[in-house]
Amino acid sequence: MFLYAYVYNRFMLLVANWKMNFTVTEAVRNFKKFSKLESKNTEVIIAAPQVSLATLGELAKTTENCPLKIAAQNFDFHPNGARTGETGIAQIIDLAPYALVGHSERRMYYHEHDKDCAQKVAAALSVKIRPILCVGETALERERGHAELVVRTQVAAGLAGVPSNRLGEVIIAYEPSWALSTATNAKLCDPREAKRMLGIVRDEIKALFGAVGARKVAVLYGGSVDSDNVTSYARTSEAEGFLVGGASLNVYSFRDILDKMELLK
Ligand code: 13P
Repeated sequence: MFLYAYVYNRFMLLVANWKMNFTVTEAVRNFKKFSKLESKNTEVIIAAPQVSLATLGELAKTTENCPLKIAAQNFDFHPNGARTGETGIAQIIDLAPYALVGHSERRMYYHEHDKDCAQKVAAALSVKIRPILCVGETALERERGHAELVVRTQVAAGLAGVPSNRLGEVIIAYEPSWALSTATNAKLCDPREAKRMLGIVRDEIKALFGAVGARKVAVLYGGSVDSDNVTSYARTSEAEGFLVGGASLNVYSFRDILDKMELLK
């Protein structure tokens, strides 16, 4: 009963990660459709492709009653300066109130390590951007029985530079890379296992910042979330929101997820 109240009375987060999809024109077209979505109990965030970040950031600010907030998918922890081809954290201050850090695709393809994530989390907080720190084990790490250790290490490393009075601004998403819809041999993470792993995330925050600290951090789940499974994930896993890839590319499949979340009240 307590858990029921815990999950069902919370304001939740729903993050659409558009990854490396859409031209600017397509992103704007999609944004306009998404901006008509209605949400009362859910904060809807679009993690915009870097090429569209400025345009969508401006649109989010200038569209009347826009329900959408923008997140950067990546950034350099340096504020600005001699880093050809990069986007410094200070350059996105007025565009994106949120930013993903350490997504598994960045860890896998661009060799981002825990140390990079720690610097990025701290850099985001320094300019009042809320970092969404992504953690999660690979299939191999899980097979070897290292899932818990990997996740604990990623959480501890990512939060290393966070003062306790800023902890409430951090969001953590548990996203096992083997459960992503695009993974080779993708498998759905059982909602009970998602609950267990989200518990590990919360337990690690508790070990670092105490029980009060652990309650301040919103913990999300990501990995093949769609309108068919979102209710089950929300009910069973006690996630405080979701990070969605494939099903966020189309306004109808995304709206169905949002509608199910709104019904959870
Ligand atoms: P899918 O929802 O396509 O599995 O992607 C999840 C993800 O990587 C969101 O960041």
